[in-house]
Amino acid sequence: MKEVKYIIPHGHTITKENRQQLKGHKSVILWYTGLSGSGKSTIANKVEEKMFDMGLHTYILDGDNVRMGLNKGLGFSDDDRKENIRRIGEVSKLFIDAGVIVGTAFISPFRSDRDMVRSIVKEGEFIEIYVNTPIEVCEQRDPKGLYKKARAGEIKAFTGIDSPYEAPEKPEIDLKTDGRSVDECADEVIAWLAAKGYIPAEEPALSNN
Ligand code: ADX
Repeated sequence: MKEVKYIIPHGHTITKENRQQLKGHKSVILWYTGLSGSGKSTIANKVEEKMFDMGLHTYILDGDNVRMGLNKGLGFSDDDRKENIRRIGEVSKLFIDAGVIVGTAFISPFRSDRDMVRSIVKEGEFIEIYVNTPIEVCEQRDPKGLYKKARAGEIKAFTGIDSPYEAPEKPEIDLKTDGRSVDECADEVIAWLAAKGYIPAEEPALSNN
């Protein structure tokens, strides 16, 4: 990468804290990681729906979508995956600064890349959510028919087949999805965030008596 000299960041008047105050909640990265077909995007989407209904400001960066724009041209070699995650990490950091709760749904198979993103934001701003679905279940679901193609040798370096996935060792949330509904999984994420004070606790439903 080219070395660039004479870049002097400008100190802006309005800070991240000001923006968070205006919005009434903290900004944070919800980093969903897991195998293809594990449910990252589906759960991230459900969590966002619920947060939106709670009046929280959110955004989702999603693997397949980002790869069609910002990261167009990056493939699935180890180096390209690393660059993919590096860029997403930097964009997510900007979202934190903007006061937004940003959900990222990328396989992000390498522990070192996820740890790198953790290291560029403040402590407590990176919530690693392991979408913990056994490969047999992902392969059986095979929503895009990609496991079948990978098994047939039509796709090379497919995560879990002939490219590694390094599961998180100490994720903030270890989300076991097998045998649970999307709703239940999303509720677990929301409850965790509320318990830790990232988002306001939901009002208990009023009883009729
Ligand atoms: S990552 O490894 O760089 O984090 P990312 O989440 O952006 O991956 O993209 C994964 C998506 O790309 C998968 O859900 C799948 O639809 C598609 N894909 C295409 N080729 C591959 C491959 N070789 N390995 C994994 N996913 C692939």
